[in-house]
Amino acid sequence: MTTRFVAPSILSANFGNLQADIEMLNQSEADYIHCDVMDGVFVPNISFGIPVIEKVAEVAKKPLDVHLMISNPDNFIVPFRKAGASILTVHYETCPHLHRTVHSIKNEGMKASVCLNPHSPVHLLDDIIVDLDMVLIMSVNPGFGGQSFIKNTYKKIKQLKELIASKNPGCLIEVDGGVNFETGANLYDAGADVLVSGSFIFKADDPIATINKFKTL
Ligand code: DX5
Ligand code: ZN
Repeated sequence: MTTRFVAPSILSANFGNLQADIEMLNQSEADYIHCDVMDGVFVPNISFGIPVIEKVAEVAKKPLDVHLMISNPDNFIVPFRKAGASILTVHYETCPHLHRTVHSIKNEGMKASVCLNPHSPVHLLDDIIVDLDMVLIMSVNPGFGGQSFIKNTYKKIKQLKELIASKNPGCLIEVDGGVNFETGANLYDAGADVLVSGSFIFKADDPIATINKFKTL
């Protein structure tokens, strides 16, 4: 039995009234609030940054799971901690000194997570997995909500589950992109602990019921 956590992504929220959507998430059984930060350099899109996260943190009653899709994330570890991040995820592909980056995140009192793009193999984490609180597996190419799920993700989760079992059993597996009830059930079965879901939740007629249903897949 794995953990069944759900982390709604506010990339698909209504930015014209973000407070209402955060209050909706507070009322739900969501475990984290997933915040996608994009810089238009590492990924081909720009989303939101530190001032928005600060305001989200003022309203949120759930921990903020901040996913940095930015070049040079080392420059922003302290600002994101001050803004209210509880979990900070950096991409493997943006960190030439990943060990230092991970320990900088932990030294700031946050949980450290590393993300792999769809083309990055799990074995890249062999020598850093012992230092991680969570691994985020991208099941779409990062940059946009509403994309189709890449099925190779299931194989990667099984490989990662074995790596975690042998070296760091407390490390969580999070999956992000194209998650709905069908892919979500398969992902929990494959060993995922935390599911990120954006458009599927925010486009639903009843987002709270949709979030809560993830907990029972
Ligand atoms: C994509 C982001 C995701 C995104 C997921 O780059 O990292 O968190 O919000 O959106 P959906 O669930 O719509 O695929
Ligand atoms: Zn994300």
